[in-house]
Amino acid sequence: MQTSELINFGSKILSKSTNSHRIDAEIILSHILKISREKILISENKVSKKNISKFKYLINRRLYNEPIAYILNKKEFRSKDFFVDKKSLIPRPETELIIDPIVKNFKNKRLFFLDIGVGSGCIMSSILKELSHSKGVGIDICKDTILNAKINLFNLKVQNRSRLLNRSFKNIFNHKFDLVVSNPPYVVRRDINRLSNDIKKFEPKLALDGGNDGLDVIRKIIYKSKSILKLNGVLALEIGRGQYFSVVKFLKENGFRKSRIVKDYKNNVRCIFSTLLKNKTK
Ligand SMILES: C[S@@+](CC[C@H](N)C(=O)[O-])C[C@H]1O[C@@H](n2cnc3c(N)ncnc32)[C@H](O)[C@@H]1O
Repeated sequence: MQTSELINFGSKILSKSTNSHRIDAEIILSHILKISREKILISENKVSKKNISKFKYLINRRLYNEPIAYILNKKEFRSKDFFVDKKSLIPRPETELIIDPIVKNFKNKRLFFLDIGVGSGCIMSSILKELSHSKGVGIDICKDTILNAKINLFNLKVQNRSRLLNRSFKNIFNHKFDLVVSNPPYVVRRDINRLSNDIKKFEPKLALDGGNDGLDVIRKIIYKSKSILKLNGVLALEIGRGQYFSVVKFLKENGFRKSRIVKDYKNNVRCIFSTLLKNKTK
């Protein structure tokens, strides 16, 4: 079979379950042949039997809604490839927005930070990579995602300035950070079932479930941050659509002053940066 025939074949099968059937078939074939999509599209090649059966296997996984990132075991984040599997949330483009203000704010400073819910390590690794004087601690209650974060820190050669702990933020004591950053679970629990099959069938519930109003974990992180941030320390949070006013109110009530917001491509406030004005030790 020739490459174009195989793409047509895969695309037809995938059209039963996804609108991105053609591009997905191209991406899968490009991954198997280790040739860029562009090259595959301009040159016709005969595909070996072994690669045809690999292709059919991966197409079948995609047919049942498995996200491309899990099938390929990689996702790009700030132009770097991150290893992912179904133990980690797939890094989202919106999450990239949280990095620039941090990099700008702490440039040339000796930043010591905590990443709550480190997941694949995309936030933590990016900060460490882009701020060479920084040191970070990443925590997560999911043991398996910590292993993925370890791989990614290592691949980006920032492991020497990092520490990973398999624990909840509730169990962080005796540290004072310059920055606490988090992309916490913030989906309203009853909405999880309404998410696309790709997400609800494959991505970890622990990474999505924000409780009855989506704000459970966010509130607890704000509350906890009062005791683990230095005075004037920064709390950088990614939040969900429609959560802005509640989060700002809670931040104010807990001694934080909002310093900056970042909106996403759909004009929703995605990230809130705030400063701790009063240091409280619980
Ligand atoms: C939305 S994901 C974010 C992953 C990654 N930071 C990113 O931006 O792609 C949230 C992460 O928080 C973790 N998590 C949930 N509750 C937690 C808790 N109490 N303490 C630490 N991590 C928690 C989940 O396991 C998940 O990996």
